[in-house]
Amino acid sequence: HDLPYLNPKLPIKHRVADLLARMTVSEKVGQMTQAERNALRSRADIASYALGSLLSGGGSVPAPNTPAAWAAMIDTFQLNAQATRLQIPLIYGVDAVHGHNNVVGATILPHNIAIGATRDPELARRTGEVTATEVRATGIPWDFAPCVCVVRDDRWGRTYEAYGEDPALVQSMATVITGLQGKPNGSQLARNDRVLATAKHFVGDGGTTYGSSTTGSYTIDQGVTEVSRQQLETIHLAPFGTAVELGVGTVMPSYSSLSVDGGAPVKMHGNGELINGVLKQRMGFDGFVISDWQAIDQLPGDYASDIRTSINAGLDMIMVPTNYQDFTRGLTEEIAAGRIPAARIDDAVRRILTEKFKLGLFEHPYADTSNSASIGTAEHRAVGRAAAAKSQVLLKNESNLLPLAPTSKLYVAGSNANDLGNQMGGWSISWQGGSGTTTTGTTILDGIRQVAPTATYSADASAPLDGHDVGVVVVGERPYAEGIGDVGNGHDLLLSVADKAAVDKVCGAMKCVVLIVSGRPQVITDQLGKINALVASWLPGTEGAGVADVLFGKVPFSGRLPVSWPRTQEQQPLNVGDASYDPQYPFGWGLTTQAAARQ
Ligand code: GLC
Repeated sequence: HDLPYLNPKLPIKHRVADLLARMTVSEKVGQMTQAERNALRSRADIASYALGSLLSGGGSVPAPNTPAAWAAMIDTFQLNAQATRLQIPLIYGVDAVHGHNNVVGATILPHNIAIGATRDPELARRTGEVTATEVRATGIPWDFAPCVCVVRDDRWGRTYEAYGEDPALVQSMATVITGLQGKPNGSQLARNDRVLATAKHFVGDGGTTYGSSTTGSYTIDQGVTEVSRQQLETIHLAPFGTAVELGVGTVMPSYSSLSVDGGAPVKMHGNGELINGVLKQRMGFDGFVISDWQAIDQLPGDYASDIRTSINAGLDMIMVPTNYQDFTRGLTEEIAAGRIPAARIDDAVRRILTEKFKLGLFEHPYADTSNSASIGTAEHRAVGRAAAAKSQVLLKNESNLLPLAPTSKLYVAGSNANDLGNQMGGWSISWQGGSGTTTTGTTILDGIRQVAPTATYSADASAPLDGHDVGVVVVGERPYAEGIGDVGNGHDLLLSVADKAAVDKVCGAMKCVVLIVSGRPQVITDQLGKINALVASWLPGTEGAGVADVLFGKVPFSGRLPVSWPRTQEQQPLNVGDASYDPQYPFGWGLTTQAAARQ
């Protein structure tokens, strides 16, 4: 190639410098603009606005929702980008937060809280590899994951997106970034089984005060994080330091606000001290900072000041994501007026282009679907099944009821025994997730029946109870995502009336195991006395047989609580290290079946 930036033999630094020098202001503005695929008035806008990035928000899927359709859709967008003067490739992003969760047939892994319960960093890395392979095979080189949030109040609707309440646990699980991206130096990012990762949401998203959210009907999501400087550093910033060390390519700020040592709350999307000062300068983060969905609109002031404040605070690309016309116009005006320095724009574009070169998008802008046959395969599902099994936390095991003998006459009941959508949770096929068979997978009941075919099942325990040895009651939550799942917003930490009734009925008639399938602890205190064995199953994803594996002793129980288990909802926030700490079950708690046998 006669143009240096198109010459793959040149160092990326040189290619970026050459390309940047050729770019007009409007082309630079375009690179800093991310639009949602459905917001495009026409595909021609990709070239006319020189858009640098598109995304699928949760559930924004092609029809049909197949891997081939995804790749074809993104290639079409890329074709439009290739029609631009400099042919800078688009970068497409999605939220693949527990497998390639938008795609029907993909492997849906347990959510982060379950992975945290495994205490297995190598398994966390492996889940990243499975996710990256399936995502890249559909033509997508960028995943808005992992959330390295440290969840301090389980009334938060995003509790299950956290690996736990303890920063050291969250840091240990950041190996998922290596699974997603490969080696920290970025040398593997061009491979067809790697994607660019996103450490989110910077910083303190999991530490907001209940009742402080001013966003819609949310009660805690997107609220105010009130911490001391020391808590900020040791609890919420620590995982980002690890993510930067692992070479994470992008960071997404939080919708929330930060108040340090009683200072006035500052919206994170306008927090230059933390983004420019701590993330970029002190931690040396050299990737790019992508905003959250329409998050800059929440900054005080008009849209022009939203743009100026966020970009000057260190945002490099803005997930507009719909009104890209106003955004590009506004950014252009701020630059022309000198209210955003040209050096800041060049720094942002340099960071974005560097990641695109590392991903090999200039050489291979179109989907490499050679791994598409790996999507949802037995090999990948086996990883999900192993993760599901290792994530099960045995909280109580009276008279060594577990593991069950396969020959036991079982009575299975409860709202979450046979519901694939409920056991996957939010961010599954749609943004909020949904009950029922929304994709291909194995429910917990399916898994039980693979081992104990004669198991009786009755969702509401209305079938006759006599003649059974053991009851298995699978209770828990319906799917939700983000603030929609905040307690006080149509959700709480209590079992439903139907689930409580099923526990009372079955556990009143026979020895019983209760499995809680949920994104966070559920208060079970009042019924604990009649329950012989209790398991926190979290959100196991499509591979429900992993739960059966520990129930029947194929795999020993080894999971440990990633969050403290409360006696009452009012105990929240409840975290290990609290001065007065009185959980039902403490952080780190977890019986093992072998140990139980010795008791
Ligand atoms: C959402 C979430 C963020 C996600 C983004 C794109 O609102 O806050 O985690 O990556 O929007 O879907």
